[in-house]
Amino acid sequence: MCGIIGAASSRNVGKLLVQGLHKMEYRGYDSAGIALHQKDNIFNLRTLGKVSLLEDEMIEQRPKSKLGIAHTRWATHGKPSKKNAHPHESGEVNIVHNGIIENYLELKEKLVQAGYTFESETDSEVIAHLLHQHFQSKGDLLAAMHEAIKELDGAFAIAAIHIKDKNRLVVARNKSPLLIGVGLEENFAASDPLALSQLTNEFVFLEDGDVAEITKESYQVFDRKNSPISRDVTEIDIAVNAVTKGEYSHFMEKEIYEQPNAVANTIDGKLGDDDVLDNIFGLGSSEVFSKIKRIQFVACGTSLHAGKVGRFWFEQIAKIPCYVDFASEYRYRDPLVEEGTLFVTISQSGETADTLAALRYAQEKDYLSTLSICNVPTSSLARESEHVLFTNAGPEIGVASTKAFTTQLAGLMLLAMSIAKSLNKDKQNRKKLVHELRNLPKVIEETLKLSNEILSIVPNIADKHNALFLGRGMFFPIVQEGALKLKEISYIHAEAYPAGELKHGPLALVDDQIPVVALSPENTLTEKLVSNLEEVKARGGTLYVFGGEKAKIKIERGEYIQMPECSELLAPIIYTIPLQILAYHVACQRGTDLDQPRNLAKSVTVE
Ligand code: F6R
Repeated sequence: MCGIIGAASSRNVGKLLVQGLHKMEYRGYDSAGIALHQKDNIFNLRTLGKVSLLEDEMIEQRPKSKLGIAHTRWATHGKPSKKNAHPHESGEVNIVHNGIIENYLELKEKLVQAGYTFESETDSEVIAHLLHQHFQSKGDLLAAMHEAIKELDGAFAIAAIHIKDKNRLVVARNKSPLLIGVGLEENFAASDPLALSQLTNEFVFLEDGDVAEITKESYQVFDRKNSPISRDVTEIDIAVNAVTKGEYSHFMEKEIYEQPNAVANTIDGKLGDDDVLDNIFGLGSSEVFSKIKRIQFVACGTSLHAGKVGRFWFEQIAKIPCYVDFASEYRYRDPLVEEGTLFVTISQSGETADTLAALRYAQEKDYLSTLSICNVPTSSLARESEHVLFTNAGPEIGVASTKAFTTQLAGLMLLAMSIAKSLNKDKQNRKKLVHELRNLPKVIEETLKLSNEILSIVPNIADKHNALFLGRGMFFPIVQEGALKLKEISYIHAEAYPAGELKHGPLALVDDQIPVVALSPENTLTEKLVSNLEEVKARGGTLYVFGGEKAKIKIERGEYIQMPECSELLAPIIYTIPLQILAYHVACQRGTDLDQPRNLAKSVTVE
């Protein structure tokens, strides 16, 4: 969740490190800091707030250095403050850390007894003191790191420098992403390749238990047993325009408008003339799918909503039962695994700690196989799953997920079709779906044109404190997603209900102060939904309805916005778009920092 970066170079690294932090601000942005090796001291600067504040101070102070580490924080232990910001110091050592040290209280007690004083409320500070302690006996930062991590329980990506080591950076990884960026006369470490996108396109992904030393000339990785090990170099071209806003005001806006292309990229190369192609989830996947009897989905947040829509598709198209669980809950309920169950994780980042922990738990159980739908090919989830479908949405920077969600839905539809094909089910429907999927980017484009109509209802929502979202069937998870988008970026409290549940409680909330947003597509539930909306009208509620031509309901208070015609099964993807646009414009009107909303971070790498 925090972002860490380090550099050893023949040029000054201060500016490079700050630029890298800017690109990782989506991982956390409540405080930032930098430590730079100087002749016989370490320059340590920490600021409360966004990276730009650190940058301002750096411009003023202009420290020179060819070796350094830096950090942008998302607070877990200890409030956002200058004291709790990284890098943490212990004598001659400076460290930055991403993750959570679970046994920090126990370690802190021991270190206090050994005479160390703690300056912060963080768990991370124990790492600095442990390294300092082990350096006393080992006299070497690499050896101290090997010793220190033996004492740490939890998740960590660490980068450290020492006054006596003017050329070398030492890093370590366990359950938290960390990679080395390989440059020319310079090498780097970071928790995300994005941070290094303007510096190199060659990356070495570290594995759990790895420690590495990095100098400007070379790097060496050591495994859990301290043996030197060679890890593959992966080339990744991260287009620079993928990490800039271009003509848009926010990344979220850009990412909403990228959806036609993003979805086209997800389905690209996966469809034949009349059916989905074989083995699109990896070699041998079609064979595995022919043995599937059930599906278990596990994910968090927006990705979980995708799984909830997927359940309808799997039951309708592949005719197999499907379970969906919060990743944070799944492994704590001691789940019973039925024979022939495919374990599916869904994640944009592929680094979400709860989802990754659920996958690792599932690997110990009797699942038929594991599969992930993921947007980051180099992520831990993608590397550790037996089968993978990359959504190819391109980097998603806005904290509120948009294109990642619609591409996950497209990926789930491909999965439902692939399983149906392997199980010989529903060939006619698949043929129809192939054509509808091909047409999907065009329909998304049509839907994006509703932006002006949506803008007209924004003032009526932006000044409210609460909102209710209603949908039925596979549109219930879509309204849950719409409510999540609104609350996370506009801070308006929003709740989603299946419309039929209204009269069982939430109807009591309806008055002229609570906008009710509803999805009314044309399907077998249309009439029932319209009756539910009549209940809102009868109580003087204000309705904002997105619906199909035939699903039109007469609205006296509120607005009806007609959606483009679209395939009944793919409609959840289309109906997501106006809810994203609505949340975006409401947040703009309220003036929130919507790409980096308060208290949140993009990639949640702590449990
Ligand atoms: C909300 C949002 C989060 C993520 C969740 C899982 O807009 O983005 O709810 O969906 O934190 O993240 P991933 O998909 O990276 O596992």
